[in-house]
Amino acid sequence: MCGIVAAAAQRDVAPLLIVGLKALEYRGYDSAGLAVLDRGEIHRVRAKGKVREMESLYLADPFPGSTGIAHTRWATHGVPNEANAHPHMAGSVALVHNGIIENYAALRADLQARGHEFTSETDTEVMAALINEHMESGLGLREAVLATVRELEGAYAIAVVSSKEPGRVVGARHGAPLLVGVGIGEHFLGSDAQALIQVTNKIIYLDEDDVADITRDSVAIYSLDGERVQRSVHESELSADAVERGEFRHYMQKEIFEQPNAVAATLEARIGPHGVLPSIFGVDGDELLTRVRGVHIIACGTSYHAGLVAKYWLEEHARLPVSVEVASEYRYREAVVPDGTLFVAISQSGETADTLAAMRESRRRGYLGTLAICNVPESSVVREADLKLMTRAGPEIGVASTKAFTTQLAALALLTLHLAQQRGLERGRYIDLCTQLQHMPRAIENALKLEPQVIALAEHLIHRQHALFLGRGVQYPVALEGSLKLKEISYIHAEAYPAGELKHGPLALVDEDMPVIAVAPNGPLLDKLKSNLQEVRARGGELLVFADGEASLENHGARGVTLRINGGGDFIAPAVFTVPLQLLAYHVAVLRGTDVDQPRNLAKSVTVE
Ligand code: G6P
Repeated sequence: MCGIVAAAAQRDVAPLLIVGLKALEYRGYDSAGLAVLDRGEIHRVRAKGKVREMESLYLADPFPGSTGIAHTRWATHGVPNEANAHPHMAGSVALVHNGIIENYAALRADLQARGHEFTSETDTEVMAALINEHMESGLGLREAVLATVRELEGAYAIAVVSSKEPGRVVGARHGAPLLVGVGIGEHFLGSDAQALIQVTNKIIYLDEDDVADITRDSVAIYSLDGERVQRSVHESELSADAVERGEFRHYMQKEIFEQPNAVAATLEARIGPHGVLPSIFGVDGDELLTRVRGVHIIACGTSYHAGLVAKYWLEEHARLPVSVEVASEYRYREAVVPDGTLFVAISQSGETADTLAAMRESRRRGYLGTLAICNVPESSVVREADLKLMTRAGPEIGVASTKAFTTQLAALALLTLHLAQQRGLERGRYIDLCTQLQHMPRAIENALKLEPQVIALAEHLIHRQHALFLGRGVQYPVALEGSLKLKEISYIHAEAYPAGELKHGPLALVDEDMPVIAVAPNGPLLDKLKSNLQEVRARGGELLVFADGEASLENHGARGVTLRINGGGDFIAPAVFTVPLQLLAYHVAVLRGTDVDQPRNLAKSVTVE
């Protein structure tokens, strides 16, 4: 998704802006650009493709300037090309934008009627034109931004400069994140702290509808009605090292291998030998959670799959009714909310537009309260939730989510155990589940040792066009997550089904060209799954089975391979079985030569609807 970096400093800012944009590359984008103010003139460079392509253009013809704005664009309105890349300019104004302006067509028509000529197909350009009009009518840059944003419908984070006000950058946010970086004798704007970590770790997280006015010596923040407001400065815990790739070939591989530590960090000081520790949801949380009678989980993408696993857990162990829904559907549906229902939002970034909007919508639907399970402490989702349980995965750069998922499972397992204990789960079983959860980091570490065997399996898939994933019970969401990983980064069409549904449709697709990847649980459903696998074998399909070390499974002959995994117990097996599926997708993608960390068309943090 689009990324913004801006700076007001005493030194030349273009190199700083380029470093910031590179730190934002993980968000996914298809063009990049920057604009710098120098002695009353705006210099701009833009290019389709990667930041390094824009950087080469800049280096071929560099320009000085101590105030500037920069952007990576993920196309929404208009194809990815130079004309549509940001910054957009009108008169003295240059602007970058993340979000979607919903009333842009009407605004554009009005501006055209007043004689404005547009140079791009974007919704963004109308904002530059409006701010310029307001400045021409006599307003200063900040007032012109305030006047413009009051006319907008939709979502935006923007950073704006004007050659009439050198040394100043004005930013505004509504429905998309923006923060201020506080340096020594310089100030910055960025879409997230990662963009700024090379220059400062002092961060002001802007609230919804804030307008920030920065110069090299000052930061002033205003509300939409133009009143000055105070926002506190936080020290970001991010370090530049945390976002280095180190010895790994890709961020995704690094993040897969970070999972034992990330899960251990998520469990640390939250679970002990006698169970889940009190107050891990805050003191108010303990009381609120005693009143829970049902749970609605809302999320997108991989986080949604974590929610699906939690449904199996919460229903089985805490005996609570649970529904799980993708946020983009939930927000536009009149969901019935029984008394005592807890709303749980799961999000790695905490800025996903659909999840945030669903959470805001939930406020008027009469929930008991909202709980955020999230990886970014200062994100909008966390700030707006009643209760929070942070995953401690550290920054996740690869677009395909890996350690965020397993740490979400760890957090959801803690929630399950907390509620299960309150709701009378038998003590012996409770302690068994707690012990399993404490061993999750080690079990994941063991699963990572399977990488050489998984590389061999990956060879089976590289020339395939399609793949079918099967799972049963709590391993069905794991199959969904495995198929999502494969399609995201290898571009192989993959679908996941509960194995029992095979005969109701997808079996028609099975022939010798269709690999079927099964996640085999070691439990009462194993025999059922075995019958489903027989159905595949009988049709000549190739089977790749991920099975618990103890599960009795016959050999699949020439057209099949079984990989044995120690699932670490029924409770934590979904997290453990996810690991070889992540490795499989990763190695298939590497062998196919795709852009693993930044797959085409996808964005890490989807801050538009
Ligand atoms: C995007 C990412 C996915 C992620 C989803 C939800 O689609 O590419 O990897 O799972 O957003 O993101 P969130 O930050 O809310 O978990």
